[in-house]
Amino acid sequence: MTPQAPSSFHQQVDIDLGDRSYAIDIGAGLLDSPDSYAQLPSARSAMIVTNETVAPLYAKRLERMLAPRYPQVHTVSLPDGESHKTWESLNLIFDALLSHACDRKTVLFALGGGVVGDMTGFAAASYMRGVAFVQVPTTLLAQVDSSVGGKTAINHPLGKNMIGAFYQPQRVVCDLDTLTTLPARELSAGLAEVIKYGPIADMVFFDWIEANMAALMAREPGALAHAVKRSCEIKAWVVGQDEREAGLRAILNFGHTFGHAIEAGMGYGAWLHGEAVGCGLVMAARLSQALGGVDGAFVERLTRLVQAAGLPTVAPVLAASDNVGRYLALMRVDKKSEAGEIKFVVIDGPGHAVVRSAPDAVVAQVIEASTRA
Ligand code: NAD
Ligand code: GLY
Repeated sequence: MTPQAPSSFHQQVDIDLGDRSYAIDIGAGLLDSPDSYAQLPSARSAMIVTNETVAPLYAKRLERMLAPRYPQVHTVSLPDGESHKTWESLNLIFDALLSHACDRKTVLFALGGGVVGDMTGFAAASYMRGVAFVQVPTTLLAQVDSSVGGKTAINHPLGKNMIGAFYQPQRVVCDLDTLTTLPARELSAGLAEVIKYGPIADMVFFDWIEANMAALMAREPGALAHAVKRSCEIKAWVVGQDEREAGLRAILNFGHTFGHAIEAGMGYGAWLHGEAVGCGLVMAARLSQALGGVDGAFVERLTRLVQAAGLPTVAPVLAASDNVGRYLALMRVDKKSEAGEIKFVVIDGPGHAVVRSAPDAVVAQVIEASTRA
């Protein structure tokens, strides 16, 4: 498939969840287009939640677009970074909402990456027992994954995304132009979540990512547009069948069990979420091979792709003594764990994933092989 030229690219992906259905708008220039906001609920006030990095880039533009629709538009700017995905930051949102006397009709706008999106969604889920919110994702990771599907959360020192809620936005507005200001390291982090969709759901897309990795790294608008659209389609397809992760949705966590252990073990923010996921994808592929789902050639292929995206493929040492034990202990805190048994997303054939447990000895071999790879 040839990606469309960016200026003509404006597509909508629908996420079908009954009365919680919504549209994901993907295109260039959407931040400044009145159409992006035309169907949103009316209210006396809107609250833009953003952070100290994104605010100077995009907050004024969003404020301008919202002003004709909402008599009061407020902005709260949070400290930047995964290490601030905390109760303290969440409270800053509630402080702002209450100090401006925001009511039940107030609409929240998450302007930023996945950290801002996850926290704004959680604030929207709980402020006055639930207010409307809109995702305006400005990182590749947020456009291809975190802004879609209604998972909201903050971190706890003992585990990643442990406190949160399922709460769907009213709309997702992905302006591809915002990706032009994204640091290179963050672009790579987003590519980890793009890559994951191939092995779990769509090997044709995997082939396309391989063929277009140079274009993606060079931020060719047509390539980015296709990557965002296809990723959102796959995510919408999965979430539409299993909104609350009773089963299928867990496949979206391919690479994340290892990845979350890396993030928590290194200290939040030391490795970017996408970097930890990138390395986690390679570890999960190795585990899939050990369990007979894929061959060594598949693991090699995935490893090369993760490397080509500028992501780490050698796992960090999390403890000077008993590194394997430390990984296992951190992974037991994963939300997929049941009665202390770790559940992994593994590939049981290219393009298809399942959730299953694995013997500790097999997981230990994967961790050892991955830390000295
Ligand atoms: P992030 O939100 O920290 O953003 C990355 C960095 O880019 C930040 O410094 C941010 O300020 C900056 N930034 C954002 N947009 C920018 C722009 N356009 N130009 C310049 N700088 C910009 O990180 P992320 O990778 O977007 O998101 C990671 C988070 O998403 C993690 O907390 C992860 O747990 C979460 N996540 C959630 C889901 C979900 O389903 N809810 C899925 C995947 C990841
Ligand atoms: N990113 C995993 C999910 O949304 O389920």
